[in-house]
Amino acid sequence: MSPPHIPEDLIATLRSARRVVASTGAGVSAESGVPTFRDALTGLWAKYDPMKLGTPEAFEEDPKLVWDWFAWRRQLVQKAAPNPGHVALAAFPEHFEDFTLVTQNVDGLHRQAGSKNVLELHGNLFRFRCHDCGVRVDAIDDGEGAPRPPACAVCGGRVRPDVVWFGEGLPEDVLSRAFTAAREADVLFSIGTSAVVYPAASLPEIALSSGVVVVEVNPTPTPLTPHATHVLQGPSGEILPAILAALEGPNLT
Ligand code: OAD
Repeated sequence: MSPPHIPEDLIATLRSARRVVASTGAGVSAESGVPTFRDALTGLWAKYDPMKLGTPEAFEEDPKLVWDWFAWRRQLVQKAAPNPGHVALAAFPEHFEDFTLVTQNVDGLHRQAGSKNVLELHGNLFRFRCHDCGVRVDAIDDGEGAPRPPACAVCGGRVRPDVVWFGEGLPEDVLSRAFTAAREADVLFSIGTSAVVYPAASLPEIALSSGVVVVEVNPTPTPLTPHATHVLQGPSGEILPAILAALEGPNLT
């Protein structure tokens, strides 16, 4: 199969860009075998709606159910490895004076692929804190027979994954750095996200209103598609390596 075509004018724009932002969603991990949110869940969890499990209300009503769902997702991610899309993004900083990687993903695969200083808007599945007193919890006992959720060593409350649930605020410093990067960029990529969950979905909007070139990478159209400057339709595991190859290749202009 021939590699995806990257338009010459986009390559030229990227070659002269100084500040570049990539904002990623679940689609960038799809080729690693991590299901996206708007895919139907299969197997054990098929009857649950991920939007309803990832809420503080659900945790308060049935902490074991929500803990077990996140434990299942952690297991899935532990078996997954970064795909060529993650790997290509990890090499992007070599090509720009300033590169910011923002993700809605909680799977840590960007960091595993070698990306540094990732702005994790929705937290991380492998970090924990107490839902009741807020203290950070460094290690949990995830073994057979361990209480689910674990009890907080400080207050005896319920330990939870340090991820942002629906209805909760995003980490303010992370969000403000992401907004600033989107506003000041020359080019912003929106990759593998359905672009419907705010505030993350406002990153390309902020960029567009600041005159930034916005490039969408996604196999299917999203609400951003009609507004993006360039739309590269296809899987990020193929398109991002093709962009990198174009950046690394000889300058034809
Ligand atoms: P979604 O599940 O909403 O969207 C995934 C997107 O990835 C879709 O637009 C797919 O078309 C696209 N996609 C699928 N396969 C792809 C591939 N191989 N390459 C590129 N794109 C592909 O995921 P998000 O937009 O990340 O929030 O969801 C946003 C937030 O909603 C999540 O962070 C999570 C969720 O509820 C919280 O947990 C707070």
